[in-house]
Amino acid sequence: MIAAAALLMAGTTMAQLKLQENNIDEVLKAMTLEEKATLCVGYSHAQGDAGTNGIIGQHTDMVPGAAGATRPIARLGIPATVLTDGPAGVRIRPTREGDPNTYYATGFPVGTALACTWNQELVESVGHSIGNEVLEYGCDVLLAPGMNIHRSPLCGRNFEYYSEDPVVSGKIAAAYVRGIQSQNVGTSIKHFAVNSQETNRSMVDEVVSQRALREIYLKGFEIAVKESDPWTVMSSYNQLNGEFTQQSHGLLTTILRDEWGYKGIVMTDWGSKEGTVKAVIAGNDLMEPGNQTEIDRIVEGVKNGTIPMADLDRNARRILEYIVLTPRFKGYKFSNKPDLKAHAAVTRQSATEGMVLLKNEANTLPMSSTQKVAVFGITSYDFIAGGTGSGDVNKAYTVDMMTGLSNAGLQVTQGLASLYTRYKAYMEEKVEADRQAGGWHWGKEMLPEMAVSRTMIDKQAAEADIAIITLGRQAGEGSDRKEADDFNLTQVERQMLTDVCDAFHLVGKRVVVILNMGNVIETASWKAQPDAILMAWQPGQEGGNSVADVLLGKENPSGKLTMTFPVALTDVPSSHNFPNVQAAAPEMPSFMRRSRVQVKNRDYTLHSEGINVGYRYFNTVGVAVSYPFGFGLSYTTFAYSKPVVKATKDGFTATITVTNIGSVAGKEAVQLYVSAPAGGLEKPAQELKAFAKTRSLNPGESEVLTFKVSNYDLASFNEATQAWETAAGKYVLRFSANVEDTRATAIYSLAKAQSVQCNAVLAPNHEL
Ligand code: BGC
Repeated sequence: MIAAAALLMAGTTMAQLKLQENNIDEVLKAMTLEEKATLCVGYSHAQGDAGTNGIIGQHTDMVPGAAGATRPIARLGIPATVLTDGPAGVRIRPTREGDPNTYYATGFPVGTALACTWNQELVESVGHSIGNEVLEYGCDVLLAPGMNIHRSPLCGRNFEYYSEDPVVSGKIAAAYVRGIQSQNVGTSIKHFAVNSQETNRSMVDEVVSQRALREIYLKGFEIAVKESDPWTVMSSYNQLNGEFTQQSHGLLTTILRDEWGYKGIVMTDWGSKEGTVKAVIAGNDLMEPGNQTEIDRIVEGVKNGTIPMADLDRNARRILEYIVLTPRFKGYKFSNKPDLKAHAAVTRQSATEGMVLLKNEANTLPMSSTQKVAVFGITSYDFIAGGTGSGDVNKAYTVDMMTGLSNAGLQVTQGLASLYTRYKAYMEEKVEADRQAGGWHWGKEMLPEMAVSRTMIDKQAAEADIAIITLGRQAGEGSDRKEADDFNLTQVERQMLTDVCDAFHLVGKRVVVILNMGNVIETASWKAQPDAILMAWQPGQEGGNSVADVLLGKENPSGKLTMTFPVALTDVPSSHNFPNVQAAAPEMPSFMRRSRVQVKNRDYTLHSEGINVGYRYFNTVGVAVSYPFGFGLSYTTFAYSKPVVKATKDGFTATITVTNIGSVAGKEAVQLYVSAPAGGLEKPAQELKAFAKTRSLNPGESEVLTFKVSNYDLASFNEATQAWETAAGKYVLRFSANVEDTRATAIYSLAKAQSVQCNAVLAPNHEL
């Protein structure tokens, strides 16, 4: 009887055990093998997996439209948590059946636009607003930021990512993560790692040297992990040097955790792979979106001894540690009513700061609000706020260029506007009618450009004071861009540009080109034609208002390019090793894929250019570009003082004073590039190590900017020793307006070489 009573009591205690912040050990001990496996596999209602509904007896679609969830375990008080896309805002379904309320989220500027602000404070404050929507819409984690390197302008998802440079990517991502996590919700830095193409993304093997991996593709993630402590990391779809990243112990444990000290969870990108057992052992804690087969594989793996119990315990513990951080665990009562009006103001203003003024002959801009404008280009009427795919936000509206201009009080030529408006309505209907079933239709597609006759253009030149031409591009998840008619202009666009510039210049009037896209296009062949060019990116739902603010000088553009604009696509060093063949059957079982002949640029991608990505190549080899990395004009001009450099315990601090010597207020982003001494590893001519931006300076006003760089930041990765090495000698510090425009230099001397030993992992599996 005593034994029975004891058992009963133990049973009662067990039954009452509920997860708390301070009892994770106890809860873990009380979990069955099946429960641990369940915790490590996500739940997606869309898959019709009834299991979780059974456990909690409620709809798992806690937030309709969210990308995924973790599974609850009711008996232990473990709630389900909700994961939603990003990065340009919260991607949830805007309407719900039988519910008169709407759940629109704010469409913020895309990643590229945010990065081009070079303003970490601003990105952090945008993060506050996005984080607030995550929280108030009942989500726990935003699946963002996307921070893969712009290896090629053709990558379909570059709009979500930040830069060709890892320091920009890392610092901007860190600011974004800090902003979002300040709202007590989580982030997921993605896609870890080397997911720099969409073609065949779920199977392709990215083959990269260890040096390029460490210095280019992992560096940004390293900075973000160390400077912002994201709650989660998302492993990518692709393979890296012969192993799926989600199954790579070297990547997910040796580098991410042992070397960088990461403490959060790793989840897979959305897709089930056969290697669940390997993924668990590698330290991929959570399988998303998750299915019962993966749970079964984990249970079976532990039972048959292929998964050490300690590995499953380790992963389950990390998930519990994540869960106790979440608003859902803490019982936060979300409102479903974030302040969308306030956030619209945030997106309107932040978008202007990422816009890059590429050309401004004879002060064409800012223009006056009394000018009558002829507005060309279908995108002026059908503005693109963001890219397609999981990064597309369901926003309530997008302000197009016409609305933006009219809100700013500008007159437009009516005949042209009405022609475009009718063409747009017709084209929208036609695109819908021609649409094939299936495929990716996540977000706004671009309408084909309308051909405008020279006669019509001549009439516009007579009637209007100035012409605006908007050129648009759309791209997104699931496929990469093409060179013809995408990276390069189409024939219709070229003709329009030439005719409009000819006609307007003949009568002494100006032409402004607005670029509405998330990525790089060819500019060298046509940039001489218009008088001004503004890269507006895909600036979010207030796009037209943001553009008008810059055109009229309400905001002075201070964005600078975080990527190079090459003269031709073939100048880009990765162009011969960028995939061009979509795998015939991506869904083919992997044993069949592995046993067929492996084809370059289909099954694997060689990163033969190594670290020579972007300006590291163009600037070192001296290949001319159309617009260099870091380039961007302003309506004012800035002077840089002589820098002051002071050695610190582990590096240096440099300061420089920037003065606005022009006639209107403006901000300046200063870039610190470093040229290393000869004698160490061979290095690019210069590499960005830090950057800083002034506040808005009135004419005559100055600000001191500070740059902190450590000796570790100056290091390069030596494959022979598997160590980060900083050579002794004189480092030339270049304080620059862009990579080709150094305004001041200074020297930092390092007396003794330094080295930080790493682990020898992730060696390439092909000759490079
Ligand atoms: C994308 C991720 C996204 C996930 C969930 C995947 O297809 O690659 O970026 O977070 O879907 O929607």
